[in-house]
Amino acid sequence: MHAQQVIAKRRSIRSYTDQPVPAELIEELLETAIYAPNHKLREPWRFVLAIEEGQKRYVDALMELLTARGQFETKTPEQRQQAEQKLREVPVYLTVLCATQGTPDQQLEDTLATAAMIQNLQLLATERGLGCCWKSGKHWFTPEYATLVHATEAERVLGVIQIGWPAVVPPVKPRTSATDKLTHF
Ligand SMILES: Cc1cc2nc3c(=O)[nH]c(=O)nc-3n(C[C@H](O)[C@H](O)[C@H](O)COP(=O)(O)O)c2cc1C
Repeated sequence: MHAQQVIAKRRSIRSYTDQPVPAELIEELLETAIYAPNHKLREPWRFVLAIEEGQKRYVDALMELLTARGQFETKTPEQRQQAEQKLREVPVYLTVLCATQGTPDQQLEDTLATAAMIQNLQLLATERGLGCCWKSGKHWFTPEYATLVHATEAERVLGVIQIGWPAVVPPVKPRTSATDKLTHF
């Protein structure tokens, strides 16, 4: 596939088959994704991969975190179970950590480089038929989650990339034409 086709084919995939994803495949994709541009070659990223048995332990810990944060306080036991089931159906959770050292400009550069690396990963995964969904905000950006993935004081969670073989591929979400947002100087 050409780059244009891969970019057009990529979707945020939120529903996965139960076919396992080999850890070696994720590692292989990461080895290419890290060729993202990054200023001064600081390589500001680090990864925590939850897959196979690790995925089970990870979802256990995530459920504990969500419970402690009161996520299920207003939910029925069935709704809690549904939420847990949804988390268990995600074959791979890849937490991407980004360095938070240096000046504010350096930190911004490092964030941008890590985001570029994540998009490399998503495109490489798409090319292999995998689906990804980049998760952020909510509980993922909390100090409790940073502790869960053993982030250091000098790192922040930039995103959690859910990965698996797509069960449902949603239709493309149309974008505003770039020319509508383009001004000639
Ligand atoms: C930085 C970032 C954070 C995102 N966070 C979430 C998220 O927390 N949950 C989610 O379902 N999708 C998340 N997404 C995916 C977007 O919702 C998705 O890219 C957008 O709806 C466009 O759909 P598409 O990726 O299929 O083109 C995130 C994307 C980015 C780039």
